Amino acid sequence: MSLTLLVENNPRIESFYMLNLATWLGLEILPKKKAEFAIKHLETNASSINLIIVRSIIEKEESAKLLIEFVKQKALNIPVIVIGPGQEIPGSFAQVPNSLQLKVVIQNAAKALNITAKDMSAKIVPNYFPIPIVYFKVIKRSVCPVYSQDIDDSKKYHLALDKMVEFDEKTIGTLIEQGMSHLYINKLDRLDFVNNVTSELITLLEGSDLSVDEGISAADKSVELLSRKLLTLGVNEETIALAKKNIDVMRKNSKSNPKLAKLLERLLSNKTSYLFKHTQILTYVALHIIKNIDWGNAEQEDKMSFIAFFHDIVLENDQQAMIKSNLELKKANFAPAEKQLVERHAQMAAEFVSKYPHAPMGADQIIRQHHGTLNGIGFSEHYGNNVSPVAVVFIVAEEFTRIILKNENGTLDRGEMLRELKETFPTSRFQKIIDILQKITF
Ligand SMILES: [Fe+2]
Ligand SMILES: [Fe+2]
Repeated sequence: MSLTLLVENNPRIESFYMLNLATWLGLEILPKKKAEFAIKHLETNASSINLIIVRSIIEKEESAKLLIEFVKQKALNIPVIVIGPGQEIPGSFAQVPNSLQLKVVIQNAAKALNITAKDMSAKIVPNYFPIPIVYFKVIKRSVCPVYSQDIDDSKKYHLALDKMVEFDEKTIGTLIEQGMSHLYINKLDRLDFVNNVTSELITLLEGSDLSVDEGISAADKSVELLSRKLLTLGVNEETIALAKKNIDVMRKNSKSNPKLAKLLERLLSNKTSYLFKHTQILTYVALHIIKNIDWGNAEQEDKMSFIAFFHDIVLENDQQAMIKSNLELKKANFAPAEKQLVERHAQMAAEFVSKYPHAPMGADQIIRQHHGTLNGIGFSEHYGNNVSPVAVVFIVAEEFTRIILKNENGTLDRGEMLRELKETFPTSRFQKIIDILQKITF
C-alpha cells in the first residue's frame, strides 16, 4: 500500500485535503502534525510513502525545509509538494503558496504521482461511495442523500440522512458508537458532496490563520456556500452570520488594497470566480464613490457594501453573472430553470433582503431594480428618471466594474474606460457620478 504523507497542523485544512485527495485522486493519506513526526515515520517506513505534502512553516518551524533536507540526505525518491507562503525551497517538486487553491494542489499531486485524467476516469468507483463518518461531524446537513451499510448484508444500504435535512452531532455520535466507520453516498453525488464539505470547512477557518491570498480564496468559497444556503434555507441565523462575515471581508479587502489594480491582481492571481471578482471590485468602486460624494457618510457606506454583496447573491456561476441583457439571456445555453433564475435574480435577491433583519433602508428596492426593471424581472437598458441617487451610484459602479473586468488582462486605461462609461450613461445625473471616478487610484 502506498501512502501520501500530509504534514499540516490545521485540523480543518488537514481534513479537507484528505477528503479531496482521496476523492479526486484515490490517495490514501497519512496525516502528521509536524515535520518531526513525519521524519520519524520516514526513518522506518520510507518505502511505503509515495508523496509528501507539507506546509511550509508550522508554528515558526520550517517544516518543508526540514523534510526536503531529510529526503535529500537519505536519497529518498519521494516528491515533496510545499503548501503555504514562503520562499521557494530548492528540491521541492512544486510549491503552492495559496494552500486553499485546492485545484492546484490536486493537479500537482497528480503530476507527481503520474496520475492522468484518463487514469482517473478509468477508475472503477463503487455505486455507494464511502465517506469516513467523521466528516458528518463538521456539517449540519448533506447536499445529497446519505446511506448506511447493512450490518449483516454488506450489499444492502439504507437511507441514513435525507438530503438537506438538518441532523445533529448526536445522531452521528450514535452511529459511531454502533461501530460505523463510513457512511455512503451515490457515486454521482460525490464531487458535489466533497465540494460542499470543503466549503464548510474553509468557511470555518479563522482569518488569523490565513495569508491575505488565502483569505481571498476562503471568501470566494464562503460566498458560493452562502448563495447556495440562501436558496435552500432562506434567511436564518446561519445565513445571516455568514453574510455578515463576508460583507466584512469584502470591505476589509477594499480598504487594505488602496490601489484598485493591486486588488484586481490579487483576485486574478488567486483565480477567484468572476462572480466573486465582480462583487469585490463593485464594493471597492461603490465605496470609492460614496467616499467622494457630498452626501456620503458611514451609513451610506454600509448600505453600499450591503447592496453590492447581495445584489447577485442567488446567481450560481460565472456564466450567469455575465448576462446583462434580455438578448444575451435568450441566446445563452441555459436550461429553463437556469434561465428563470437569471431572469429573476434581482427580484429573488430583493426578497431575501426584505426578510433580512435590519437591512439598510431601501436596499431591497435598489437590488430589485439593479438591471433597470421596476419589478426585478429581466433586464432593461433604460433606467428611468425616478431612480434614487444611491441607485445611480450603484448602477454606475456596476457598469464600471464590468468594464474593468472586461479589460482585466490588459492595461487598465482609466480615460478610455470612463469614456465608455459616459457613452453608456449620457444623462447629467450619471455623468456627475462618473466624474468622481476620475479620482480613483489604479
Ligand atoms: Fe451584478
Ligand atoms: Fe445582477
